[in-house]
This record gives sequence, C-alpha cells and structure tokens, in this order.
Amino acid sequence: MTSQYRMTRFRTAETGNDIFELTHDDPPPVQDGEVLVRFDWISIDPAMSGWTTNKRSYMPPVQPGKIMRAFGIGEVMETKFEGLAPGDWVTGFTGMQTEGVLRGKHLRKVDVSLAPPNHYLSGLGMTGYTGYFGMMDIGQPKPGKTVVVSAAAGAVGTIAAQVAKMAGARVIGIAGGPIKCAFLKEELLLDGAIDYKSENVGEGLARECPDGIDIYFDNVGGEILDAALARINYKGTIVVCGAISQYADWHSQQGPKNYMQLIAQSAKMQGFTMKDYMHRIPEAVAALSAAQKKGELIFREHVVDGIESFPQAFEMLFNGGNQGKLLIKVR
Ligand SMILES: NC(=O)c1ccc[n+]([C@@H]2O[C@H](COP(=O)([O-])OP(=O)(O)OC[C@H]3O[C@@H](n4cnc5c(N)ncnc54)[C@H](OP(=O)(O)O)[C@@H]3O)[C@@H](O)[C@H]2O)c1
Repeated sequence: MTSQYRMTRFRTAETGNDIFELTHDDPPPVQDGEVLVRFDWISIDPAMSGWTTNKRSYMPPVQPGKIMRAFGIGEVMETKFEGLAPGDWVTGFTGMQTEGVLRGKHLRKVDVSLAPPNHYLSGLGMTGYTGYFGMMDIGQPKPGKTVVVSAAAGAVGTIAAQVAKMAGARVIGIAGGPIKCAFLKEELLLDGAIDYKSENVGEGLARECPDGIDIYFDNVGGEILDAALARINYKGTIVVCGAISQYADWHSQQGPKNYMQLIAQSAKMQGFTMKDYMHRIPEAVAALSAAQKKGELIFREHVVDGIESFPQAFEMLFNGGNQGKLLIKVR
C-alpha cells in the first residue's frame, strides 16, 4: 500500500492551501518502460503554490484528483526500463507519494555513494542549481561588487549567497528574525544582514550598501524588491528568481513601483527557471559538491518526518518556519 497526497481543487486566494487530501492505494502493475520506486525523501517547495493554481506558467498546473507534483529521491524496487536496475537511486518529479510507478526515462539516476540522498534534493538538487545558475550565470558576482540576496537563509538563498561570497563579492542577506540573521553572519559569513521583520529594508540597505547594490538576487518580490530597486547601481542586475511575498494570490500580484530606476541606472531585471539550465546540471553538481566537500559551502536542511506532515510543513515556507531546504523524510 502506498500513501499519496492528491490535489482536491485548484488553489485560489479563498482556498489557500486547503487543497490536498491523503489517500492510500496499491501501486499499479509496472508496464514496459516503467519502474516502481520507493521514496526516502520528498522536497517541499514554494513553487507548489504555482503548480496548484490554474494559470499560465512555465509548466501546466496539477489537475484536481491527481497526485501532487513534487521532487523526490528513492530506490528502484522493480523495473521494466532498460536503463535502470533494482537498487538504483533515482530523482526527478516523483510526486508526493511514498511509492510510485513512473516512466524510467523521466528519472535521473544519482550516485548515493558520492553524497547522501537528501543532498540531491537540497544543495545538489533543484534549489542548489537555482541558486548557483541564477547567481553565477545571470548575476555574475565578482570582487568589488555588492550583492544582496533576499530569503537568504532559505534553500535557494543560502546557495546564492554562498556562491557569490566564493566569487569574491561583498554579500548582504535579508531574512526574517534575529536567529536567521545571526546564521547569515556567523555561519555563512556574509558581510551583513537585514532583518526585514524588525527594520525598514530601505534603511537597512542604506546602512549595509552605502555604495549601492550591483546585483540583487530576488526571492521575495513586493516591497523588498522595491527597496532594492531604489538602490540599484548603474548597469546593475536584478536576478528575478522568485516572489514568495506574492504567492498568496497568484491572480492579483503587486508589480514593482520603482521600476523606473532600471531606466535611470541602465540596469536590468532578468527572470529564469531551472528549465533554462537542465542541460548544465552536471556543471552545478560538480561545482557545488566540490565546494561542500572542501567545507566552503553549507547545505542547510530542515527535515520533517512522514508524508502526513506535508500540508502543515508546506505552510512553513510562507511563515518563515523553515530553516533551510524543507524536506520530508519518508522512511
Ligand atoms: N526560478 C526558479 O527556477 C526557482 C526555483 C526554486 C525556487 N524559486 C523561488 O525561490 C524562492 C525561495 O525558494 P526556496 O525553495 O529557497 O524557499 P525557502 O527560502 O527555503 O523558504 C521560503 C522563505 O521565504 C521567506 N518568506 C516567506 N514569505 C515571505 C514574505 N512575505 N516576505 C519575505 N520573505 C518571505 C521565509 O524566510 P524568512 O524567515 O526569511 O521570511 C521562508 O523561509 C521562492 O520565491 C521560490 O519560488 C525559484
């Protein structure tokens, strides 16, 4: 018997996150080209709020009645797919389920002798690549540049901030609360931190970035994006990675008020998703795993137990309850 969370209806401002139900089924028989996988870890991501909303995006929404989309990692138990054998470990869009029958060609085999399986969903997983490519490819930090990262204590933010530090930039993190800000300064060794919950972000940026901002890596949108736009430097870059402050209602989002600074400063804003970088995943894995092994990079994970904890744990992403990459330990 496998347990899975299904989506009951599309998410709206009225439903909030009350759109999931836990069901229990026997997995279907494995057909040609398929594998049965037993999952050890499942990732919980802010993107899930977009995947459950009926609107145009980079991928179609999950349909009501279907198993919730999620990244996972687990072991192949049975296979009718040539490229995978029992005992292989695989990752990909595996769904919010304890076991599942999936198309083998949609899964990526990983080597769990090189890193523990959970790391393939955190620093060596999608959020790791996002922080890495968004910062290194679009932001392009260098010595002498001032970089600001919002949601800096989170999954993507910790990676983006650390790789910018490794590139020699001066890095300031924005996060909610004194514990997360202390983590940014004392453990990630960032050059400064701004607690957006207890201080005005514009004033914090004026204090921490007296010469302006060269690269702003945006995970939150809204007022924090506006405060960063107000201090963007000539030819500066805003990397638009996410806008979590705007996810409660995907149909009425607040755009940036200070966008005319892009004109005044010949600056640019560029969005991206990991779809743009799928062909370069090995490059990110090599760079991130080498830095982590040398002790130059921390993969911070926040683990909750059991698939049943999914709906409550998902809320943490929106109230700041998670301290790093939010993962479910399935077994
Ligand atoms: N473009 C891509 O391909 C891509 C891929 C992955 C993720 N993303 C985006 O990256 C961002 C971070 O995702 P993640 O997986 O790394 O999550 P995360 O940062 O680990 O968790 C989300 C954090 O966002 C902060 N937050 C929540 N509501 C906020 C608000 N209203 N204002 C300011 N901060 C708020 C909270 O931290 P505090 O305690 O500091 O408030 C929370 O812990 C999200 O916007 C996500 O959608 C984009």
